[in-house]
Amino acid sequence: MNSFPLEPIEKASLDELRSLQLKRLRATLAHAYANSPVYRAKFDAAGVHPDDCRSLEDLAKFPFTTKADLRDNYPFGMFAVPREKCARIHASSGTTGKPTVVGYTLRDIDTWATVMARSIRASGARPGDLVHVSYGYGLFTGGLGAHYGAEKLGLTVVPFGGGQTERQVQLIQDFRPDIIMVTPSYMLAIADEFERQGLDPRDSSLRIGIFGAEPWTNDMRLAIEQRLGLDAVDIYGLSEVMGPGVANECVETKDGPTIWEDHFYPEIIHPETGEVLPDGELGELVFTSLTKEALPIVRYRTRDLTRLLPGTARTMRRMEKITGRSDDMMIVRGVNVFPTQIEELILKHAALTAHYQCVLTREGPMDCLTVRVETRPGLAPEADEARGAARELQHDVKTFVGTSIEVVLLHEGGVERSQGKARRVIDQRPR
Ligand code: DLL
Repeated sequence: MNSFPLEPIEKASLDELRSLQLKRLRATLAHAYANSPVYRAKFDAAGVHPDDCRSLEDLAKFPFTTKADLRDNYPFGMFAVPREKCARIHASSGTTGKPTVVGYTLRDIDTWATVMARSIRASGARPGDLVHVSYGYGLFTGGLGAHYGAEKLGLTVVPFGGGQTERQVQLIQDFRPDIIMVTPSYMLAIADEFERQGLDPRDSSLRIGIFGAEPWTNDMRLAIEQRLGLDAVDIYGLSEVMGPGVANECVETKDGPTIWEDHFYPEIIHPETGEVLPDGELGELVFTSLTKEALPIVRYRTRDLTRLLPGTARTMRRMEKITGRSDDMMIVRGVNVFPTQIEELILKHAALTAHYQCVLTREGPMDCLTVRVETRPGLAPEADEARGAARELQHDVKTFVGTSIEVVLLHEGGVERSQGKARRVIDQRPR
């Protein structure tokens, strides 16, 4: 079977990798300090200079960057090149306040395409494959990021974007793509549409799904793989660091995304103290870009919670599948709850589907968590089987997560469908 060769750095020894990282890290810190007044001020305030970085561990001396830094310097204030040198701008729509704006030089676009091509290859792409992109095109980095990577790898791209679910199904039937790139929640909506049209999604041409942009569990992976008859791999990324393609799972192991460490240097920190934690410990993921020109990013706090794991399919380290963002964490009567924990328990029941939402309300002094979840198509929410599953879910959440919940069962279509990132938490508590 034809396959694409790996890049030499993907097979390099750890020593080679670490020495390349240090060289690139020092260059990045020097570039940020020399060309971005915001970084210069931040480094000066922290009493550090790029020359203080002599080993990778020295990075811990440098200050963090947060979303607030980008917002405070909206729109282009953190750039380390004049805006005219940028070939492209993207922005992520924050739920509150101004969007976060990021810029790319032509070389940055090429670096991004390279890591995306690498990601698609790691997902199992073969020469000649056709790729259907259902990530949104536009200011969101998903669509164009996937697009440039697939083209760079030499594949054929169908730049569909999000939405128009009926037509997505039609073009998948007509064009027979091998690979789909889409959020896992929207993949499920596309699978529903296949069934609505009387088609079995397992019969589609799709061999690989490259899913990311939102948290999804290993149980969700199994559910999608069984329903669609494809390999589901996890792609991770964020606009501030580049876009999709910061890390990607290797299809042969499916054991958490491999971080493309020659371009993005990861750290795990304690979310409260900021202290760097050893590999294997759970904490907040922090990234420093190693090759970016327009917007070098130093110790960016992602808010994503995970741990760093040793490499398996590659020398580079992996991150554990993201269990949640600190922003998504619900605190219900003192217990920390992530939507992914609920998802895992929902998917144990054949009567329930992965279309779910967590609604937070307040009754008097008490927070209440209601899980709204759809029953399997054709199974009425009133049916004994469905009600039994709801009772068990309630019991499982109490036992394994530690909090009481209400479960509301809904017919197919009762939970709003996303065409991109799913909205898992609806907070209706008074402010
Ligand atoms: O979501 C970039 C992307 C596009 C990644 C397409 C993958 C595929 P942002 O809109 O800036 O960028 O959102 C970044 O989304 O900090 C995570 O919280 C979350 N996220 C992204 N990928 C994953 C993943 C894009 N595989 C934020 N698993 C990140 C869990 C993810 N969460």
